[in-house]
Amino acid sequence: MNFNLSEDHVMIRDAARDFAQNILKPGVIDRDTTMAYPENEVKQMAELGFMGVMTDSQYGGADMDTLSYVLIMEELSKIDNSASVIVSAHNSLACWGIEEYGTDEQKKAWLPKMTSGECIGAFCLSEPEAGSDATSQRTTAEDKGDYYLVNGTKNWITNGKKAGVYVVIAQTDPEQGHRGINALIIPADLEGVSTGIKEDKLGIRSSDTSSVMFQDVKVPKANRLGPDGFGFKYAMKTLDGGRIGIAAQALGIAAGAYELALAYSHERSAFGKPINKHQAVAFKLADMAMDIEAARMLVYRAAWLKDQGKDYAQAAAMAKLYASEAAMKHSVEAVQVHGGYGFVKEYHVERLMRDAKITQIYEGTSEIQRLVISRNVIKGQTYIPMTQ
Ligand code: CAA
Repeated sequence: MNFNLSEDHVMIRDAARDFAQNILKPGVIDRDTTMAYPENEVKQMAELGFMGVMTDSQYGGADMDTLSYVLIMEELSKIDNSASVIVSAHNSLACWGIEEYGTDEQKKAWLPKMTSGECIGAFCLSEPEAGSDATSQRTTAEDKGDYYLVNGTKNWITNGKKAGVYVVIAQTDPEQGHRGINALIIPADLEGVSTGIKEDKLGIRSSDTSSVMFQDVKVPKANRLGPDGFGFKYAMKTLDGGRIGIAAQALGIAAGAYELALAYSHERSAFGKPINKHQAVAFKLADMAMDIEAARMLVYRAAWLKDQGKDYAQAAAMAKLYASEAAMKHSVEAVQVHGGYGFVKEYHVERLMRDAKITQIYEGTSEIQRLVISRNVIKGQTYIPMTQ
């Protein structure tokens, strides 16, 4: 078993680290305060290939593997989780599904402008009354022969106002339950598409989260992804991959908060010695280091399984659950290590603590991850060996 990253992976990680430290960090506190969207930063990320990390080069993508994507997400998330969630939703929830299940025409029509950053993608699943219970879709896509008539409201949509294209999950045949749901590509400029206000959030404040409304939107049949009735499975498969991205985001938050706490513990003295010479702080650092390593193993393993073409649904849920709990717990501890300084914006840890919370909620709450894992466990899939 080889735990080393390849030279290419190290290069990709270092490029993302440089970008996060030199480009994202200088304005991150201001953007968090004012909720300003990182417009220029997103353009620069597109130039670096971060808006089409895993997409095939024939569509302008960087054609990298999932581990590369995870390394990029981890580094961006140590600094700016608004920027990293834009990357995650665009890559995992929009580009991936179109490439995996789209027709040649759909891929050629959308992917090149998505990977160039000209067109941002968003995934519309959650509704005012359908979050965890994703089968209860109220948004309808009535079959009208050569088009679907779409009506409904989607909530908490990452990239909601900035998106040029939405992948929308909607109910076509309620009698068929989840087998009557479809996934549709809906351009943002179609008549009847509108967005709500940008949400004023606890964390990831400069990312663009809003409702998206569809009123009598005529969507050509050619915009359906996969066969009729495939929409719910499309959404579940999309979320399996999306959870790896969010797990990497949570890992980045935990690691970023730990790095800040460790550095501060060397600088700050109390009772005549650096605070890390006191067990009260040293033991916190030990717990952080251990949990972050464990989270990293789970996240990288989930990415590796996906790259090997193996089943990764359970591994992704485990990685997301473990990493998001580590992010929450250790970002709180990192604030504690900083004492009063941790409570002010200048020291960056309070922002990471606020950003951590959403990783336990989006793309399935911690409770949903436990549901996914336990269902697999009960089926007998108690452990996914690396070699499976
Ligand atoms: N892959 C493929 N198919 C799957 C699947 C998967 N991972 N999981 C379930 N399915 C299939 C099942 O096989 C079943 O199909 P059949 O009936 O044909 O056998 C069908 O889907 C229904 O499955 P379940 O009976 O298990 O459905 P359920 O409703 O009991 O539970 C759930 C499913 C896991 C709870 C699911 O609803 C879920 O993941 N909910 C959370 C949704 C979520 O993560 N929402 C967040 C929105 S995205 C977001 O956060 C936005 C953003 O911008 C960041």
